[in-house]
Amino acid sequence: MSSTSSEADQARPAPASFHDGPAAAAVTASALALIVGRGADDACATLSSEAIVRIRSGADVIAARKQGRAIASAAGFSPSDLTIIATAISEIARNIVEFAGEGAISIALLNDAGRRGVEIVAADSGPGIPDVGTAMLDGYSTGGGLGIGLPGARRLMDEFDIQSAAGEGTTVTMRKWL
Ligand SMILES: Nc1ncnc2c1ncn2[C@@H]1O[C@H](COP(=O)(O)OP(=O)(O)OP(=O)(O)O)[C@@H](O)[C@H]1O
Ligand SMILES: [Mg+2]
Repeated sequence: MSSTSSEADQARPAPASFHDGPAAAAVTASALALIVGRGADDACATLSSEAIVRIRSGADVIAARKQGRAIASAAGFSPSDLTIIATAISEIARNIVEFAGEGAISIALLNDAGRRGVEIVAADSGPGIPDVGTAMLDGYSTGGGLGIGLPGARRLMDEFDIQSAAGEGTTVTMRKWL
């Protein structure tokens, strides 16, 4: 299993815990695993500050984008930040549809000792990415695209982590802080 983290990720001091408040990352990850694994029909489950959107189609990509905007807006992000967050969600969601076929995205608020943010976890059980480092380079695409979705999302968000390997699916975790 290979992974990369952004420089911004490393430069920023890690919050003491990501498990404060409603956005328990571990809970989110297992909820995603559940939703990806069971093939549920409910496309979207929403709590006040957390949403899980099943991703199978372009319409689901738009739904995830809308949920991200709504939740980040409630957290107090500026209109330009809302566009940035929605764009990053779109890119990661589009990749699920195009390369994995289906998956799920969770959007949750973070509250780390008063510091607020939003966390997006995108998970799929698709073919995975054999060489994550190469996939993170501008211009690399196996699908005839521009190859800027992953590196673009990394630049847009404060923290970006991707876990993937051939045959093992892909999980992208992104955070933006207020
Ligand atoms: N969820 C995924 N599952 C499997 N492979 C993926 C996934 N996401 C990305 N990839 C691989 O990483 C490559 C780079 O992704 P990226 O989003 O940067 O570019 P793209 O989707 O090909 O083009 P663009 O996003 O610019 O339209 C993809 O071409 C694909 O090979
Ligand atoms: Mg893409």
